[in-house]
Amino acid sequence: MNSLVGQHVLSVDQFDRDTIKEIFTVADQMRPYAKREKRTSVLNGAILGNLFFEPSTRTRVSFGTAFNLLGGFVRETTGIGSSALAKGESLFDTARVLSGYSDIVAMRHPDSGSVAEFAVGSRVPVINGGDGANEHPTQALLDLYTIEKELAYHGGSLDGMHIAMIGDLKYGRTVHSLSKLLTLFKNIRFTLISPTELGMPTKVLDVIENAGHKFHITDSMEGQFDADICYQTRIQEERFPSKEEANKYRGKFRLNQDIYTRHFQSKTVIMHPLPRDSRADANELDNDLNMNPNLAIFRQTDNGVLVRMALFAMTLGVEHLVAKYEHNVPWYKPTE
Ligand code: NCD
Repeated sequence: MNSLVGQHVLSVDQFDRDTIKEIFTVADQMRPYAKREKRTSVLNGAILGNLFFEPSTRTRVSFGTAFNLLGGFVRETTGIGSSALAKGESLFDTARVLSGYSDIVAMRHPDSGSVAEFAVGSRVPVINGGDGANEHPTQALLDLYTIEKELAYHGGSLDGMHIAMIGDLKYGRTVHSLSKLLTLFKNIRFTLISPTELGMPTKVLDVIENAGHKFHITDSMEGQFDADICYQTRIQEERFPSKEEANKYRGKFRLNQDIYTRHFQSKTVIMHPLPRDSRADANELDNDLNMNPNLAIFRQTDNGVLVRMALFAMTLGVEHLVAKYEHNVPWYKPTE
């Protein structure tokens, strides 16, 4: 039995290198199903409660798609306003009720710690799809999976790599989870580029330092970064005290082809958890990078489905049965 059966996935703190390796091996096996070359009905009859109390497109849809691709059904709630939480119901009660209607729950909520609080009342495994500015463990896993594949393509590996993280490192939960996950590997170098007020929280820096890795903090894009990965982020305006406050930082650290050529190596992989803010005053990741072969953003989103399929299969203990419940796909599929 794999070590995730019946477990919640709340924080990257719960993972070690062996578990990550296991998840990535299962994710690799999901590729033909995600590409619709074959289908599986291993979770036929199972129900995912997909509870998104905060805006989301790709995370919500990729959780649902991953569950559907394993043959399961998805029941979805979006927005706090349309749920009983708006009537003052506690997360515990909501969890107690909704976990009676589902085999597993994926949840996003604007408050740090809320998904863990929900999990206490849940009778089924709960997967954190982002809790406020705190954590986004499934995004970190799909980012790590992508980084490993991109580095392998360039003949490198996770151990010893250098990552530059840019933008809102204070409120961005993806960089918190990814940084902590990376500390499980050897000799990682972090270059943290942000306005001083939006720097990486001390509690994350402590994890990096205590695990023996090096970080360099700067509020300027001057100079050359010999980074293997450049991880750009969006100003998380929804977490600022006011829109005016967020506006002060919009557009401060843009990345376009010209800036990339000046500051990064020609092989540096460009990542972003998405959505990128493409409004003219922000435009943190310019469309002129779209044809750059090192732009990995859509490989990240594709990989998200594989990693979430692996997590569902493993938490529900069916990863070894996926191929047994396999079927042909008769419908039209576009060629790549
Ligand atoms: C991120 C999030 O929600 O934290 N998006 C995502 O899940 N891919 C990043 C963001 O919203 O900027």
